[in-house]
Amino acid sequence: MSNISIFKCVSCENEYNIQEIRYRCKCGDLLEVIHELDRAIPDPESWKKSLDEQLGEVPFRRYQNILFPSLPNESIISLKEGDTPLYDVSPNFPQFGSLHLKHEGMNPTLSFKDRGMVSGVSWANHLGCENVICASTGDTSAAMAAYAGAAPKMKGIVLLPKGKISPEQLAQPISFGALTVGIETDFDGCMKLVQQLTEKHNIYLLNSMNSVRIEGQKAIGIETLHQLNWQVPDWFVIPVGNAGNISALGKGLRELYELGIIDKLPRLAGIQIEGASPLFKSFQNGYSELVPQKAQPTKASAIQIGDPVSYKKAIRELKYFEGVVEIVSETELMDWKAQIDQLGISICPNSAVAVAGTMKLRDADVIKQNEDVIVILTAHGSKFSNTAVDYHQNGKNKFANKTKTVKPELTEIERILDL
Ligand code: F0G
Repeated sequence: MSNISIFKCVSCENEYNIQEIRYRCKCGDLLEVIHELDRAIPDPESWKKSLDEQLGEVPFRRYQNILFPSLPNESIISLKEGDTPLYDVSPNFPQFGSLHLKHEGMNPTLSFKDRGMVSGVSWANHLGCENVICASTGDTSAAMAAYAGAAPKMKGIVLLPKGKISPEQLAQPISFGALTVGIETDFDGCMKLVQQLTEKHNIYLLNSMNSVRIEGQKAIGIETLHQLNWQVPDWFVIPVGNAGNISALGKGLRELYELGIIDKLPRLAGIQIEGASPLFKSFQNGYSELVPQKAQPTKASAIQIGDPVSYKKAIRELKYFEGVVEIVSETELMDWKAQIDQLGISICPNSAVAVAGTMKLRDADVIKQNEDVIVILTAHGSKFSNTAVDYHQNGKNKFANKTKTVKPELTEIERILDL
């Protein structure tokens, strides 16, 4: 399936050969990958049927004809990502038609980034790149380091904002063997540096501005619909930082619709944290230009981003899917994290931003009472244990579950247990 994919500029529509190492158009704007889907999937109905026979395959392979048909099978580096649970929590939330949580934290490195790295690192492997690099608020670096470790001959380099990621997130790239550099700046600062470095040196960039990664992340929405037997919900809700994931979600769903695999479009809701909400501000102004901001420290540290690289792609998808953008506060996100955790579903603060936003949109009747909603949970709670411990140790928090300390005596424990 060679030459079935090209790079195309999102604004001037200039085209480039997919085999080129290129992240931006000559005009400076972002590129996207376009596949000739009518060649890759000439008979959409029989392709759709064939997916049920491939449930034993890793999802990237199962959906490869729509994700990235020009990637040769022998280049694929997979850690068995995907096939993540779709939890039906409707009985707990009767205010919705139905509510499902798609838990992308149940991936090998505990975040959705593995979906993009199976694509990005496999492509780097195909191109023969020996050094790969990313800037990260934690999860991208973990995933990239793991997949680079799994590749036959690849070194991962990660640039992290010093002191702004969780200890578990930091432990991942170190353990996976990546060269890990802490920089005294924020994510946006790291992102600028990584772009300068990859322009000058022969190091392959694996942030989501590399449009090859977006193709892998399309699997999240596609797999969700397959799990729902292609019944299209009314809404997909997703947290937004650098805006790559919402762009991927939209692109995947749009392509399914254009192929006729689904016959209805869901709506999209992107949720940001108050102190890092440039997309929300743009939405409020009818998607006027992006005004980058200095992102404020937040418990949702993975989305502490003030200058989202994939802004243009995100607003294109939001417009296509009649989307909305909402913001939530620190208290809202932490209270919702606690409530979802207590259902036995461990979620990260960034995912809790999406849950809190869903509830806010329902309260405001933007999401209606009879509507079916999917919330994308982006990482596992275990990546942010300090955040949970701090919340529960503070009795002032609404859903705090404070640990108790007692002397090693039976009567003491009986007293605590009211026996
Ligand atoms: N949730 C989690 C857990 C994340 O790690 C990220 C992004 C997002 C949501 C937002 O996704 O950037 O595509 O809009 N993390 C990146 C990183 C920035 O470096 O790990 P987005």
